[in-house]
Amino acid sequence: MVRTGPPHTPPPRPVAVVAGVVLAGGVLVSGGLAGGALRGFLDRMAGVVALVALSVAVMLGLATALRGLLPPRARTAAQHLHRAFGVLGVGFLLLHIGVKVAGGRVAATAAALGWGSGDALVGLGTLACYLFLLAVATGVWRGVFATRRWIRPFRILHGASYAGWLTAVIHGLTAGRTPATWVVAAYALCLTATAAALVHRRLRRR
Ligand code: HEM
Repeated sequence: MVRTGPPHTPPPRPVAVVAGVVLAGGVLVSGGLAGGALRGFLDRMAGVVALVALSVAVMLGLATALRGLLPPRARTAAQHLHRAFGVLGVGFLLLHIGVKVAGGRVAATAAALGWGSGDALVGLGTLACYLFLLAVATGVWRGVFATRRWIRPFRILHGASYAGWLTAVIHGLTAGRTPATWVVAAYALCLTATAAALVHRRLRRR
């Protein structure tokens, strides 16, 4: 049966969307304008914080969908944390892009297009960024998809974050400094556990 009632979560009002876009632009520009020690910190750490936060956001999002695994209250808490880590991750991602462009590490057009920097591993960062933005947009308009007819398209579009995460991990571990072995091992473990949980969920649905 197709659900015809109002969506669970109302879509954001246009003023909230405009405010969000202006805020995101402000964060991106602040990354570029930062100076001194803050600039050094953002240059070294903004991408790292973005990757850790978005990794946690993706895994928490999956945990909320595993109905048998967590009791309803824990799933609600996971849902809140999923959104909080998503916002934190996207914020640091914008700072990361701003500081790398301002530092001349990549041109603004190459950062936007994912092409032209002469480094395909940097281009992967742009691809990851767009996949995460797609996940954010579908998350913000989640209520619009809250009918049986639209839940499948929602899962596919919001699930772009899995591809975004994998791409971001490859970018993050290869585009900059050489990571420590334990860092590579930790990401490999998280990706493997997530892939196993996705397979488990698919088999259970069948
Ligand atoms: C438009 C999108 C992106 C651009 C233009 C970009 C640019 C760059 C560049 C130029 C580097 C090399 C740093 C250096 O050698 O100084 C780098 C590294 C890195 N990026 Fe990105 N990136 C983007 C997206 C992402 C995303 C989506 C993530 C993770 C969520 C991420 C996380 C990292 C990490 C962890 C590093 C290694 C640490 C570092 O050197 O800063 N980046 N990025």
